[in-house]
Amino acid sequence: MFISILAIPLLLAALNVNAQQQNITYNVIASPYTSDQSVVVVVDNTVWPLTSTLGIMYQGSAPIAQTEYHYAILESNQQVNTTEEFTRSPVSESTVNEFFNREKNSYRINSLPNVMTPLHSINRIQSDLHIDGQIPTIHIWGNVTAVSFLHENQLEDLDVELNFTYIGLQEVHTFENVKVSLAGRSSRYIPKLSYGLKMKKKSDDNLFGYKNLKLRALGMDPSYVRECVAYSTLKAAGLPASGFSYVRLFINNKPIGLYGLIETFQDPWVASQFAGGDKNYESGYLYQGVTAGDKQTIPVISNLDYYSNLSYYNAGEYKIKAGPSRKNDEDYTRLQSFTKFIQDANAETTVEEWEQQLDTDGFLRSMVLENLLGFSDAYMSLANNFYLYNDPKSSGQLVFFAADLDTTLGISLFEMNMMLSGNYTEHPGFTFQPLTTKFFSYEAFSTPYQELLLNLTNSLVNPTIMNPFINSVIAMITQDVKWDDTLLKVGSFNIPPISDTTIDAAESLKAFPPGLRRNWSEEVPQTFESAVNGPSNSTTMEGVKDFIAKKSQAIIAFYNN
Ligand SMILES: *[C@@H]1O[C@H](CO)[C@@H](O)[C@H](O)[C@H]1NC(C)=O
Ligand SMILES: *[C@@H]1O[C@H](CO)[C@@H](O)[C@H](O)[C@H]1NC(C)=O
Ligand SMILES: *[C@@H]1O[C@H](CO)[C@@H](O)[C@H](O)[C@H]1NC(C)=O
Ligand SMILES: *[C@@H]1O[C@H](CO)[C@@H](O)[C@H](O)[C@H]1NC(C)=O
Ligand SMILES: *[C@@H]1O[C@H](CO)[C@@H](O)[C@H](O)[C@H]1NC(C)=O
Ligand SMILES: *[C@@H]1O[C@H](CO)[C@@H](O)[C@H](O)[C@H]1NC(C)=O
Ligand SMILES: *[C@@H]1O[C@H](CO)[C@@H](O)[C@H](O)[C@H]1NC(C)=O
Ligand SMILES: *[C@@H]1O[C@H](CO)[C@@H](O)[C@H](O)[C@H]1NC(C)=O
Ligand SMILES: *[C@@H]1O[C@H](CO)[C@@H](O)[C@H](O)[C@H]1NC(C)=O
Repeated sequence: MFISILAIPLLLAALNVNAQQQNITYNVIASPYTSDQSVVVVVDNTVWPLTSTLGIMYQGSAPIAQTEYHYAILESNQQVNTTEEFTRSPVSESTVNEFFNREKNSYRINSLPNVMTPLHSINRIQSDLHIDGQIPTIHIWGNVTAVSFLHENQLEDLDVELNFTYIGLQEVHTFENVKVSLAGRSSRYIPKLSYGLKMKKKSDDNLFGYKNLKLRALGMDPSYVRECVAYSTLKAAGLPASGFSYVRLFINNKPIGLYGLIETFQDPWVASQFAGGDKNYESGYLYQGVTAGDKQTIPVISNLDYYSNLSYYNAGEYKIKAGPSRKNDEDYTRLQSFTKFIQDANAETTVEEWEQQLDTDGFLRSMVLENLLGFSDAYMSLANNFYLYNDPKSSGQLVFFAADLDTTLGISLFEMNMMLSGNYTEHPGFTFQPLTTKFFSYEAFSTPYQELLLNLTNSLVNPTIMNPFINSVIAMITQDVKWDDTLLKVGSFNIPPISDTTIDAAESLKAFPPGLRRNWSEEVPQTFESAVNGPSNSTTMEGVKDFIAKKSQAIIAFYNN
């Protein structure tokens, strides 16, 4: 449509305000390229100025539209720089916090069905942190030197103090003196960086009940959807897990990209997941398996092997994310006794005895999903990215759960044919890691495991159930993925040389199960479209939907024989 943009003062003077016309407030998040550009709302062909607040929000009073309104960015001489290429329908009350160039403020998501009741230990707070169908904005702002310092030391473990503002459709919350760090290990090697946000411990600051958050760059997943699908599936299967939602990230008024917002498993997270947010809850030990620590000298990995020497658990391969104390060897006592139980368990060991040690139902479910969703950097595959929580209410029973779900659903560190197998014993590590090897030697666990594999294949992890969910999420994020692609990345490539000697050393220790891939030059670069819908034209990767289709077919074929 044709829009005439005249000088604003002229327009205001010439304005013939209809007696019935009432003003409302227009609110839009935008990021003009230069400081002399302005953001305006164009209501029925008339331009109204908006003023900037919070660095990236533009607000102003203007009449209710008769036919349409939209936003535009103007040069200092009032020429249009960018105008929204669509029109917005009139609203009769002040707008929600809209986003420049996004036609819809919210989307309908075909959520996954909650096919299993949550584990009995779960008592999750009600929270609006992850709202289906919306993409809020997070703006990190403040000390410019601190931001550069963080970005210029991409591989260092640093944190700086900054402020951040959460802008949802209705709500705006600002937090001061938040610790901002770069998050992840391998995610630091790429230019789109991931961040951690940590609010002051001794304050009431929290975002919908959470104090510690991660902003995942999704930079290694061209589909942008794998973590969303994987976290949503864990939740649908009643397992402890972070929620997942998308946010748009800005730092000091500059757009940074589309991110995944997840929860960091640090207090008070445990209370929010297992104790309904009880402020007086004293969390038990939360152990995390990280395969191996960065500067580890003792050659052990977090595979749940037993060592008589307690200090071996404190060598770096396990971290303690919550608990009464988090650094002494003694803090690993419960983990050690569990690994001793695993080692000693034999034909005489009863299901009840297992149950006292481990929430066996939860572990079954977790192992089913490691297989069905193709987790390639998890407990079975690499003794990595798993948690064991010792809820003080449970008299010692450990609850197993997973996190860090980017190499899943068709991105694999292991041979793809193993990840796609319908034969559960072929999943990398199933017959290799101490806990799965011992646990599934009991028919009382291996039979229900296979039943659940088939059940969840039929009820959840198949194209009929998952594609409508995936399609609805993709419809929501497509414009933001395109936007993300165009944005300047603040970091750089820092890929360390792949050290064959490291891999050889690990392999000679027989630390990892067979099938770990070595040849990364086989990778075919994927587009957003091919990463979601396939074909990948590759033997080492699958599009998300193809993975689900092939995997569910393979499982069904295996049990039909
Ligand atoms: C509506 O807002 C405009 C611009 O802010 C102002 O000039 C005008 O007086 C307002 N009209 C009414 C009816 O309040
Ligand atoms: C909008 O502004 C940016 C920054 O000044 C400039 O690079 C771009 O060419 C402008 N676009 C148009 C259509 O004028
Ligand atoms: C955070 O905001 C406060 C209040 O506006 C300001 O005084 C402070 O300098 C900001 N902090 C940082 C790290 O920029
Ligand atoms: C800004 O950050 C730098 C680097 O972290 C720090 O040295 C400096 O003291 C900070 N400035 C203010 C005003 O807080
Ligand atoms: C346990 O391991 C630590 C670290 O390797 C070592 O210093 C210590 O002597 C060991 N203790 C025993 C009893 O072997
Ligand atoms: C499943 O895989 C295992 C390990 O490769 C193999 O021994 C077994 O025969 C397979 N089962 C079937 C039914 O093919
Ligand atoms: C799987 O489904 C069948 C039939 O609906 C049911 O009998 C069985 O108990 C289920 N098994 C598990 C482990 O959920
Ligand atoms: C790795 O894969 C590439 C591309 O398929 C192939 O040309 C090369 O020979 C492979 N290298 C090894 C060591 O297998
Ligand atoms: C796969 O091959 C088809 C047909 O040649 C092509 O259209 C498509 O772009 C390719 N996909 C990728 C990810 O290279």
